[in-house]
Amino acid sequence: MAKASFKKPKGTADLFDNQVLAWQKIEQQARLTFSRYGYGEIRTPIFESFDLFSRSAGDTSDVVTKEMYDFMDKGDRHMALRPEGTAGVVRAFVENKLFGPEHEKPYKTFYMGPMFRYERPQAGRFRQFHQIGVEAFGSTEPSLDAEVITMVVKFLSSLGLKDLKVALNTLGDQDSRKAYREALIDYLKPNFDKLSKDSQVRLEKNPLRVLDSKDENDQAIVEGAPTIFDYLSEESKAHFQAVQNYLDALGIEYEIDSNMVRGLDYYNNTIFEVMTTDPNLKGAATIAGGGRYSGLVEEFGGPETPGIGFGLGVERLIALLTAQDQLNLDEDGLDFYIAHIGDNSVLKTLELATNLRDLGYSADMDFENRSVKAQFKTANRRKARFVITIGDNEVESNEVKVKDMVTGSQADLNLAYVKEKMETVIAALSAEEEGK
Ligand code: HAM
Repeated sequence: MAKASFKKPKGTADLFDNQVLAWQKIEQQARLTFSRYGYGEIRTPIFESFDLFSRSAGDTSDVVTKEMYDFMDKGDRHMALRPEGTAGVVRAFVENKLFGPEHEKPYKTFYMGPMFRYERPQAGRFRQFHQIGVEAFGSTEPSLDAEVITMVVKFLSSLGLKDLKVALNTLGDQDSRKAYREALIDYLKPNFDKLSKDSQVRLEKNPLRVLDSKDENDQAIVEGAPTIFDYLSEESKAHFQAVQNYLDALGIEYEIDSNMVRGLDYYNNTIFEVMTTDPNLKGAATIAGGGRYSGLVEEFGGPETPGIGFGLGVERLIALLTAQDQLNLDEDGLDFYIAHIGDNSVLKTLELATNLRDLGYSADMDFENRSVKAQFKTANRRKARFVITIGDNEVESNEVKVKDMVTGSQADLNLAYVKEKMETVIAALSAEEEGK
């Protein structure tokens, strides 16, 4: 039979070596930052019922109409790989009654993991991509909006990302949006024939999305459209103003972008996106996007509970950090490399390596019967601080020499007392180094 050759699916990636270090660094920093703000981790399934996504993202959104990885399972259920994190988290919030009195309010949670959208792969756009996201439930206070926006900015700056820009807008509450929707339809209707096909459909189903069109003709038409600010209720106006006041006070810079509409339909009041304005990163895509939503928890069978959150694309973040040379990813050197020679040395070497790891050191050894010279090369390449060599003599005497590769000094160690003595040996070698 001919050998099969497999390639990864289009729009996906294999990550290994230094690439994985970048991911770990970012995930670690996210956990650290978010926990300081009181956000605990949540893990929800990677696939859910198709309806969960179509009802939350909106059945006219691109995500639902064009990009879903959906399938019928063997029990004839219509399922989908999650295209985003919010819907699953809201479902889990309702199903596990996380709105109950035993839980903190607001209920603040974060997640990280793969998401799936059937998009045309290109720079910054993948079919399997990863989001780090947060959701906070149960407060309508504008101070929470300010906290969430501040947190994403602080997180990105803590990674060294430069030239950040926060775009801020409001979609108003339901009444404001309704009034604005009518006004927008009145404005766009006379231009119906000039609109793109996509926008014609959106005008019927979700006219706000026309504002978001990438089509140049549409954009020219949209330029003269009324803005949401003329239709905001007093409450929404006050909310948006308060968010801005808090951000000003916290020194978080932002720009108001009245044409920004998010690609998912569940938002109201504050929405925001974070991007970079680095001139070297032309067309740099949006790194994070989010905002307030209400009605979702209720729609999924819970008590009416407002939510706010954001999702951040990890691949995009890494691309920007790489372009700005902010990922310093030197792999940590090994603590110990054990070079060994002769068949008799294997067991002792394996034992010693295990003991060192039990003590909390990193340790590695040869598994290919290579020459001592080749093993020392590996030790150097792996940046081993200490090297121990085990041959027939060492096996017999149970005594080895620990060589400090930085200073060249050596110390004796009896293999029967590794656990008791190792720390002292290292301290002695380090003291010698300091004395030099
Ligand atoms: P979103 O704007 O659809 O929002 O996605 C958030 C981020 O995910 C984007 O800014 C981008 O960085 C990344 N992203 C989206 N699609 C792709 C793709 N195909 N390839 C690579 N990266 C991508 C949401 O998903 C909302 N759930 C955010 C949210 C949470 N709103 C409230 N809570």
